[in-house]
Amino acid sequence: MPDSSPILRADRLVKRFDSFTALDGLSFEVAPGESLGLLGVNGAGKTTAMNLLLGLTTPTSGTVEVFGMEFWEHRTEILRRINFSSAYTNLPSNLLVWQNLLVFARLYRVPQPKQRIDELLELLDITHLRKSVTGRLSAGESTRVNLAKALLNQPRLLLLDEPTASLDPDIADRVRKLLRKLQAETGISILYTSHWLG
Ligand SMILES: Nc1ncnc2c1ncn2[C@@H]1O[C@H](COP(=O)(O)OP(=O)(O)O)[C@@H](O)[C@H]1O
Ligand SMILES: [Mg+2]
Repeated sequence: MPDSSPILRADRLVKRFDSFTALDGLSFEVAPGESLGLLGVNGAGKTTAMNLLLGLTTPTSGTVEVFGMEFWEHRTEILRRINFSSAYTNLPSNLLVWQNLLVFARLYRVPQPKQRIDELLELLDITHLRKSVTGRLSAGESTRVNLAKALLNQPRLLLLDEPTASLDPDIADRVRKLLRKLQAETGISILYTSHWLG
């Protein structure tokens, strides 16, 4: 695949729930190393779009190509190099941060999981949270731990559903800076959603 090919191409995605149309012909492309935002008010269909791209639901019509491959035909292969984080999903709250990350590292079959976890804790500046109880983290800390989880499998494409939604403005700004640094260092592509239109 030449470098200029899009990492992700969504073409005329439609999603209907019975007679209700949640997505009505959504098309966009994400280039390698690009960060693209899907912006819209609550109920606009952002999470529905993310769910389609994670294979959690099927489109009524339209197509998705990721890494140059048709999504449904190559779903397993594609999902190996994608990961996801959302302001609205939580890691198991009773586990320590490192335990949570180790569980996911094993699920993803990460080679040398402990080393990878240490690298990510350092990258996200949360080494000091390694032995914290996950359920007691602040919103900003928990966002960064969720990002660490989402980076464990070295994804080429990161899907972030309202990554800064529950954060104070200064912490949200810090997370955005962190994502830019991550992108500069790894060339990862990011598709995020936001209901913040300011
Ligand atoms: N499983 C579902 N069944 C029926 N309606 C749904 C379902 N999921 C989402 N919707 C509806 O689709 C619309 C878009 O929802 P959603 O994608 O969550 O929006 P957003 O994330 O932009 O706030 C909403 O009106 C929501 O009620
Ligand atoms: Mg949503």
